Amino acid sequence: MFQAVKSLPEPDADAKKHSHRLTEVIREEIDAAGGSIGFDRYMELALYRPGLGYYSAGAGKFGKFGDFVTAPEVSALFSQCLARQCISILNAIPQGNILELGAGTGVMAAQILETLADQGLLPPRYYILELSAELRQRQAETLQRRVPQWYERVCWLSALPQGGFRGVVLANELLDAMPVHCFYLHEGCVFERRVGVSNRGRLVWTKREAATALRARVEHLCGQLPQALPTGYHSEVNLRLDPWFKALGKAMEQVVMILIDYGYPRREYYHPQRIQGTLLCHYRHLAHEDPFFYPGLQDISANVDFTAVAQAGVESGLQLLGYTTQAHFLLASGLDEIFSEVLDEGLRLEYSQQIKRLTLPSEMGERFQVIALGKRFDAPIPGFGLRDLRIRL
Ligand SMILES: C[S@@+](CC[C@H](N)C(=O)[O-])C[C@H]1O[C@@H](n2cnc3c(N)ncnc32)[C@H](O)[C@@H]1O
Repeated sequence: MFQAVKSLPEPDADAKKHSHRLTEVIREEIDAAGGSIGFDRYMELALYRPGLGYYSAGAGKFGKFGDFVTAPEVSALFSQCLARQCISILNAIPQGNILELGAGTGVMAAQILETLADQGLLPPRYYILELSAELRQRQAETLQRRVPQWYERVCWLSALPQGGFRGVVLANELLDAMPVHCFYLHEGCVFERRVGVSNRGRLVWTKREAATALRARVEHLCGQLPQALPTGYHSEVNLRLDPWFKALGKAMEQVVMILIDYGYPRREYYHPQRIQGTLLCHYRHLAHEDPFFYPGLQDISANVDFTAVAQAGVESGLQLLGYTTQAHFLLASGLDEIFSEVLDEGLRLEYSQQIKRLTLPSEMGERFQVIALGKRFDAPIPGFGLRDLRIRL
């Protein structure tokens, strides 16, 4: 699915100027920090610096004219399957609401609201928590255009609720966009890969011995692997998951959270052969591995260690309710049935292409996985009924 490339298209002059402004801000922060910053901080600035970061400024990002395509942008069938899960979960949590984290263009919210409205099962509120002001604006435009009659049910939050949330939490491709620390192993020691500035003013990788928290985390995860990682092994770790889940755990009273992303269980993620780690950048539909290519103009992501997600969730008081591949999740959610109800030949043709994209192992079917964590919820969740992969975590 991801094609590695040697040369990337040149941005236009305005885009370059924008990137230079962000690079300047990053360089100043590196100077102020004494010569380097953690990659997690770099990723935070490159993606979310207000007005300049990739997600916070005007770049197209999603869809054909952007840099990458996410599942709800590929097909409404994806959101329709999620809507079915919402119906089943909300059936057991009366008057529960939906909270979407990181809603992108708002297309999934619109499609879910359309599906729930068709069934007469709209929740009182559809909340969205989105870091980017630019995307909040875009989501509002999408929802006003697509579902004007349900628009007043949508409510943007600026932070997680303080407590008492009941319902469903959804997040598609949010975890891969969380800032990560980068490390490498050298003769039994853990080094942090940081971001510095070269003599010629370019952003470059630098290194130093890992501080206690990073070293402890890497040593802990290495201890859980079936085989030792070789010297020279590079990878990433998300140290922000624990505090994020802690806040989520506190915010939730009765909930099922469904998180979808690309990644692996820990022993596959930190496989000795994955020696260069999993950082992945997207620029105009080309995937590559240079996070310093025009900061602010490209997406930067890391694959998700689903074992870390499950552990952080459980430590925050949530229960692991399900883990499976995207393909199995969609099929168990009634993808075939939804497709069989479509009679228009043209639409059937379009949908069958989209289904291939969403479910084939060579496309998004296995690279993307779905995890469910919950609180005070013990009914079965249909999407996890076909194949239970929790044992792999
Ligand atoms: C890769 S995009 C996915 C967007 C959308 N879910 C989709 O599938 O098209 C990541 C989204 O998560 C948002 N985001 C990242 N970290 C977040 C956080 N901690 N809380 C809320 N939103 C966040 C980004 O601004 C962006 O909207």
